[in-house]
Amino acid sequence: MQRLDKFLADRGLGTRKQIKDLIKNGTISVNGDVIYKADTHIDETTDHVYYMGEELVYEKNRYYILNKPSGVITATNDKRAATVLDLLEGENTKGLSPVGRLDIDTEGLLIITDDGALNHYLLSPSHHVEKEYEVHLRHDITDKDIEKLIKGVDIGDRRKDNSPDITLPAKCRRGEYGEGADPVIYLAICEGRFHQVKRMLEAVGNEVTALKRVRMGGLSLPADLEISEYRRLTADELTLLKKTDDLIVDNLEE
Ligand code: URA
Repeated sequence: MQRLDKFLADRGLGTRKQIKDLIKNGTISVNGDVIYKADTHIDETTDHVYYMGEELVYEKNRYYILNKPSGVITATNDKRAATVLDLLEGENTKGLSPVGRLDIDTEGLLIITDDGALNHYLLSPSHHVEKEYEVHLRHDITDKDIEKLIKGVDIGDRRKDNSPDITLPAKCRRGEYGEGADPVIYLAICEGRFHQVKRMLEAVGNEVTALKRVRMGGLSLPADLEISEYRRLTADELTLLKKTDDLIVDNLEE
């Protein structure tokens, strides 16, 4: 059982205040009866809740998107520092895990879910789900180095036979930056090796000065999601998240 206004907030219908108004205005019905009280309790697994005639289906899993700030650890618990789960204030975080790891000093798009199958799907390189990063650099980067990042570089990993385990094909383009600011590139990879982006830039003699994940699959970091803010993913965003990219697939099959 849970409060109707909490159920509606979890489905992304707006802030508590907006939801209170939606309920007061008679736009919400439960099992055919219009409900005017926000503190009505519903059974989210069996009751049928409608907003302006459209059913809001109960989701078995929970999916959150967080704009991760620097200084927070991507883990479920840590004795010394705040974790990304600590930022989901007021939520029941039991069973939730972040999808992949962002370094403590990396910012940006982080999905947090209790859907283990999705977690695996998004991270497995064979599914070609891109993770795109805005990468700020210590030094200017040449076209030749960008080409190397795209083709794959040796970041020190070794296969069982001791041969270099080159990074998989990636996408890379130059970004815009102001006068005097660090150069910026956008790098999209479909793997998630330890410190991968930083090590890729090291492999071409450069250094990452700031890193932010801006996209996963077809889902970009929403412009209105401020740093440290989170919210539930909408059904459309969940579909976008799973989108694979043919360009990287083409590269891989070459
Ligand atoms: N690559 C890195 O080096 N760090 C991150 O946090 C993510 C990708």
